[in-house]
Amino acid sequence: MSDLLLTDLAAGKPVRIEKNGEAICVTKVGDEVFAIGDVCSHSDASLAEGEVNGYKIECWLHGAEFDLRTGQALTPPAVAPVKTFSVSVDGNSVTVEA
Ligand code: FES
Repeated sequence: MSDLLLTDLAAGKPVRIEKNGEAICVTKVGDEVFAIGDVCSHSDASLAEGEVNGYKIECWLHGAEFDLRTGQALTPPAVAPVKTFSVSVDGNSVTVEA
């Protein structure tokens, strides 16, 4: 069963899902879909409410940026990465491995 539909994902508009106790931020960039931990590693903010720019997502609270591909923190004040999750897309079905 899919976690969400590809057609639910508009470019630059991340979606937060919860699966197996994990809050996950799912983002479409071009034809690719990425899933990272939704909670910013700096403090308690939802990255899905942040702004996407290419492969980067910027936390709305204090401006830390993360790489959607690796979860790596790119810009202070965050220094720790967030988790990444594998994503598979089958037709219109998007499944996150969590
Ligand atoms: S909570 Fe995300 S940068 Fe501070």
